[in-house]
Amino acid sequence: MKDKPFSIAIDGPSGAGKSSAAKAVARELNAMYLDTGAMYRAVGVYMMRNGISLDDGEAIEENVSGADIQVRFENGVQKMYLAGEDISEAIRTPEASTAASKVSAVPGVRERMVQLQRSIAAGHSVVMDGRDIGTHVLPDAPLKIFLTASSQERARRRWLELQEKGANQSYEDVLADIRERDARDCGRAASPLRKAGDAVELDCSRMDLPAVTREILRLARERMA
Ligand code: DC
Repeated sequence: MKDKPFSIAIDGPSGAGKSSAAKAVARELNAMYLDTGAMYRAVGVYMMRNGISLDDGEAIEENVSGADIQVRFENGVQKMYLAGEDISEAIRTPEASTAASKVSAVPGVRERMVQLQRSIAAGHSVVMDGRDIGTHVLPDAPLKIFLTASSQERARRRWLELQEKGANQSYEDVLADIRERDARDCGRAASPLRKAGDAVELDCSRMDLPAVTREILRLARERMA
């Protein structure tokens, strides 16, 4: 397991804790962690900065080739660059999140991002999280996880995080936002969010991060022994 590159795909809806679990699993297995949502967020930021309507799929498709997006790993941490500028923080705003969800429905955007994701993963052991990793990006991954939690639980966790940061969004608003994103991510024609036939579904509504991480590591060791 140490020498041969392997890949683990972790998909699921927003707020299920994919990135925290994927990061912890990658650290434990000495693999590269790739957050693919960050790439769609970067495209969203590019479109917003260039005044391109997020509801105009054709314009997004026409403009995506102009987005000079780079993924860099600095001290093991993934950073996103747009035309040489570090936008790793700018992609985390609620606006960038909505923009990402909208641009990710555009087939031309997905094609470019998938190409980039596959080229980054080539030759490395990788833990990748997203929405279409198991179904499309890495269909041969020996371990695919579909990480879910109820929308209420995901909203509760996100709301607590926001409270800690001092933001005063109501729980109801956070829940409505999560449900809107779920509908968009699951309802689009291009690579909608769905569980791959051979993925293991983990409902983490009643599991904390260490328990989720342990379970994924157990499955990984079992599959790759
Ligand atoms: O995981 P995230 O919240 O950073 O993702 C932002 C958006 O990008 C999300 O609404 C769905 C989309 N996305 C996608 O369509 N495919 C992926 N592999 C990753 C994210």
